[in-house]
Amino acid sequence: MTKLDYQTGFGNNCATEALPGALPVGRNSPQVCPYGLYAEQLSGTAFTVPRAEGRRSWLYRIRPAALQKPFEPFDGARSWTQQFGDGPVTPNRLRWNPVEIPVEPTDFIEGMITWAGNGNSNDLSGVSINLYAANRSMENRYFYNADAEMLIVPQEGRLRLATELGLIDIEPCEIAVIPRGLRFRVELHGTIARGYMLENFGSVLRPPELGPIGSNGLANVRDFQVPVACYEDVEGDFELIAKFTGAFWRTALPHSPLDVVAWHGSNAPYKYDLRRFNTIGSISYDHPDPCIFTVLTSPSDTPGAANMDFAIFPPRVLAMENTFRPPWFHRNIAGEFMGLIRGVYDAKAEGFSPGGASLHNCMTAHGPDVETFEKASNADISQPHYIRDTMAFMFETRRVIRPTAAALSASTLQTDYDAAWLGFKKHFNPAKP
Ligand SMILES: [Fe+2]
Repeated sequence: MTKLDYQTGFGNNCATEALPGALPVGRNSPQVCPYGLYAEQLSGTAFTVPRAEGRRSWLYRIRPAALQKPFEPFDGARSWTQQFGDGPVTPNRLRWNPVEIPVEPTDFIEGMITWAGNGNSNDLSGVSINLYAANRSMENRYFYNADAEMLIVPQEGRLRLATELGLIDIEPCEIAVIPRGLRFRVELHGTIARGYMLENFGSVLRPPELGPIGSNGLANVRDFQVPVACYEDVEGDFELIAKFTGAFWRTALPHSPLDVVAWHGSNAPYKYDLRRFNTIGSISYDHPDPCIFTVLTSPSDTPGAANMDFAIFPPRVLAMENTFRPPWFHRNIAGEFMGLIRGVYDAKAEGFSPGGASLHNCMTAHGPDVETFEKASNADISQPHYIRDTMAFMFETRRVIRPTAAALSASTLQTDYDAAWLGFKKHFNPAKP
């Protein structure tokens, strides 16, 4: 299984075969498939959603996925949970230093720590926000997540995602999305890997509508990359781990489940290079709302109020005049969970490190820290300001984001985060308009 190549597009009808003629012509499920393959449909949306929103693929594989023994409980993913609690949530601003890379051998599944979340996979609504830190590849182990689509945001270390539909390699500043239910294995290219992983329980992620921006801009559809078919025809002692209803399950497999020789359809994993984002902003005055930086969105049943948005703060030029250029002070209805992939975030002078995280919940007051405010208030804004070598991101949700007990008791929680805002001086002078 070594073919690393991509098709471009998003949610379109991709078609790919690792052997010539493996894709049936004229029907999805012929009486007998080429090469003696089995036909199987993997649907990611309800059958009857509008055509533009539908996601489903047809897989032509060596053995059907149904060939498996019963699952039993699996306890190897101890810090990956769906328990966000239902009591009060602190209104305090929270920020964490990066999680430590483990010392013991730890793969992507074992090294997943749930940090916050809301909603419930049973209701097909909400998100789970996780941090991962690993130091070894998944060995003879495969995984699928029946609860959620997974958005993987590496911060350190390159990953290979060996999936049923093909190979995806990602590095920091790239992201990947794995559809609900797709079987895959995570390999490390180096010795360590660290990053963020959001489970989206809601409607599948898609680029936002562009409205008056027009037909180009933000994440351009041609930059989403979908793998081509390649397969493993191997037998041995493997295990398949499943996440279902917030719990983990295990079964033994005598063969690799990555045995799809050809597939076509729209329900596929994909990657996107955040450095290709066409960043759009103000060229007159004021700082736009952060939705202008949305890469992917999971709409809810309420128009405009997303189940979650994935927004980024990439390198860009601030050229607005006679205005305060950094993000302003604000209290929002949305919950905002931020991470930093590299560099410095332009609303914080220090304390927010690559690999770290912050949480600002509904109506919690925040914005630039004292140092950033003073600097921006006195800056020469007759010249453009270049923000280079940075990549911050935000998971924004319509619901309150509930930090887990693990996050609230973590040694990485900064106890002095409020100090970022405690030194604002009174500049008010009623005699000086
Ligand atoms: Fe904010």
